[in-house]
Amino acid sequence: MRGWTLILLAVASCGDKGTDPGRTSGPTPFVLNTPAGFPPPEIPPDNALTHEGIELGRRLFSDPILSADSTVACATCHLPSQAFSDPRPFSRGVDGLTGRNSMPIFNVLWRPALFWDGRAPSLEEQALAPVRDPVEMGENWPHIATKLQRHPDYPHLFARAFGPNQAIDSTLVVQAIAQFERSLISADSKYDRWLAGTADFTPEEERGFLLFHTEQGDCFHCHGAPLFTDNQFHNNGLDLDPQDPGLAALTQGRLDRGKFITPTLRNIEYTAPYMHDGRFPTLEEVIDHYDSGFHRTRLTDPILLIRPNLDLSREEKRALIAFLKTLSDPHFEPR
Ligand code: HEC
Ligand code: HEC
Repeated sequence: MRGWTLILLAVASCGDKGTDPGRTSGPTPFVLNTPAGFPPPEIPPDNALTHEGIELGRRLFSDPILSADSTVACATCHLPSQAFSDPRPFSRGVDGLTGRNSMPIFNVLWRPALFWDGRAPSLEEQALAPVRDPVEMGENWPHIATKLQRHPDYPHLFARAFGPNQAIDSTLVVQAIAQFERSLISADSKYDRWLAGTADFTPEEERGFLLFHTEQGDCFHCHGAPLFTDNQFHNNGLDLDPQDPGLAALTQGRLDRGKFITPTLRNIEYTAPYMHDGRFPTLEEVIDHYDSGFHRTRLTDPILLIRPNLDLSREEKRALIAFLKTLSDPHFEPR
């Protein structure tokens, strides 16, 4: 009997923290499960992950309250059903179209720099940009703070995530959004299961795996496992004369023209269209580009420049795509 009472007391003390007036401790730490073989995560010490912070960030991410006319949310251009990318080559913001294709958002806590040209050094800094961008959300931060402060739910949610008596401001908003983004980890694809020995590749997928990881297809140099990106900047020969400066906008380096950060190939099946300007609607066109369609200029990455055309057969191209589709993680976000 005594034992039962103790268990009941223990259960009662784990109950809803929000209803316990005597409780003074802060939000609940969120334990990030790093997938096997992935690099250790780097979380900024001043923005540790908490359940309450992540949930607040998730809500803010989908809330058009962050835009000038309350029509555009982060999720408008980063659709959860598309691994947080946009099926349109360019996304529509409050005032027109973006100049580049929206990027997927998962495994971003391993990104050393954000955006196609790497101009944002952290997720917190990145999140400041779309809100102020006149095309994307066109809003100003003091006005957002006022709207959130007057909202029926947000003052309470911010207090739960960051403690009471904190003024809602841009810093807290981007911290919550960055926490949510860091919690978006995708590592449960058929490829991951094959690696763990719990799924088998078809002969075609296995052939594609070998093409991808050898000089025959030559993808692994830039899109290496486990993240399927080297997180470096390359010019993969899309244009004879790149109109979008890419990395050169930051470095002013003449040879950095048309260099963009390597995108991950995880969930690539869900993130069409492809490249920084969304020029290729299908993976077939991407493979044709790498096979023999890319331009050889002095800006083209040496990895591509020094190899001959791949001249893959139809079957080999199909196999490469079959392998790319093993990188889809159907459990990542509901679609
Ligand atoms: C109008 C469409 C639009 C809206 C709204 C928008 N984004 Fe984006 N997002 C983009 C585009 C386009 C890019 C790539 C831009 C570039 O590289 O110059 C991007 C890039 C990013 C990246 C970089 C990912 C990477 O791997 O480098 C992150 C993170 C991101 N957005 C988060 C957000 C957040 C958070 C919000 C809301 C505060 C938001 N976005 C609102 C279109 C949008
Ligand atoms: C020299 C480095 C390099 C090599 C080798 C390389 N890629 Fe890429 N890949 C990139 C870069 C950089 C981009 C983005 C280019 C841009 O948008 O301007 C990219 C883009 C892509 C995209 C579009 C992703 C998206 O989200 O838009 C796919 C798909 C892709 N590569 C597949 C492959 C395959 C398959 C191979 C092998 C046949 C390969 N890549 C070889 C660097 C490389």
